[in-house]
Amino acid sequence: MLIDGKKALVTGGSRGIGSGIVKTFLRNGASVYYISRKPGDYLEEYKKIAAENGVEVIYKEGNVADEETITATVNEILEESGGIDILVNNAGIAKDGLVMRMSAEDWQDVININLTSAFYISKVVSRSMIKRRTGAIINVTSIVGLVGNAGQSNYAASKAGMIGFTKSLAREIAGRNVRVNAVAPGYIQTEMTDKLSDDQQEGLKAQIPMGRVGEPEDVANVIMFLASDLAGYVTGQVIRISGGMGM
Ligand SMILES: NC(=O)c1ccc[n+]([C@@H]2O[C@H](COP(=O)([O-])OP(=O)(O)OC[C@H]3O[C@@H](n4cnc5c(N)ncnc54)[C@H](O)[C@@H]3O)[C@@H](O)[C@H]2O)c1
Repeated sequence: MLIDGKKALVTGGSRGIGSGIVKTFLRNGASVYYISRKPGDYLEEYKKIAAENGVEVIYKEGNVADEETITATVNEILEESGGIDILVNNAGIAKDGLVMRMSAEDWQDVININLTSAFYISKVVSRSMIKRRTGAIINVTSIVGLVGNAGQSNYAASKAGMIGFTKSLAREIAGRNVRVNAVAPGYIQTEMTDKLSDDQQEGLKAQIPMGRVGEPEDVANVIMFLASDLAGYVTGQVIRISGGMGM
């Protein structure tokens, strides 16, 4: 159990990559708070895994892009838990379109939910981690943030922004023993990618040297490594989890 006895906060934990992170953390001995718009279909399964491993899972409803309410919710979690050891900024959306046709609203929604939310939440959590002189923050960016993608300028900008945010925050708080890293998944099978057309899915698969689409657990395992003491000397890094896509 790599993260035994730790307390984690995961955003977007109701499904997809987030559900892989919640399950992996619970199986490895951490108690998990997760925030998403809805509890999702897995809460009962999470509770079962938590009970089997002697830990807890707690759901908090929230919109990560709303500064006032998300700050209040995160403060409540810090108080209830007595301190968070691991923060994963995972919640995210895509609203794709070519730049020439994209509305300002679609641009801003994606920036707010994917990037600004990580600032709101990290601001509160990092302050508490600094006081306790321990903590690991992991931000979920994307290969698209590294290489760009036609039709995803808002998404790519949010994910590239998250990389700059990760490295800057890492530099700000490294001296207080709080580490900040990012993971950049490639093409992972989730509800988000299920929405892509068959042609888009085939086009993406063709770009994966390992020849298979990733599973949420592929991402969760690397996040767990970064959250654990095994990565105790790793900060400010971006790890691609992509079967070689975008290497
Ligand atoms: N699936 C992929 O191939 C892939 C690749 C690279 C990066 N990512 C990133 O991984 C993360 C998870 O993606 P996924 O594929 O699991 O997506 P998903 O759509 O299956 O899940 C997204 C999660 O974010 C939550 N969420 C969305 N907006 C929210 C808001 N305003 N407030 C609170 N919660 C909110 C949803 O409730 C859900 O739990 C995202 O940041 C995404 O950009 C995904």
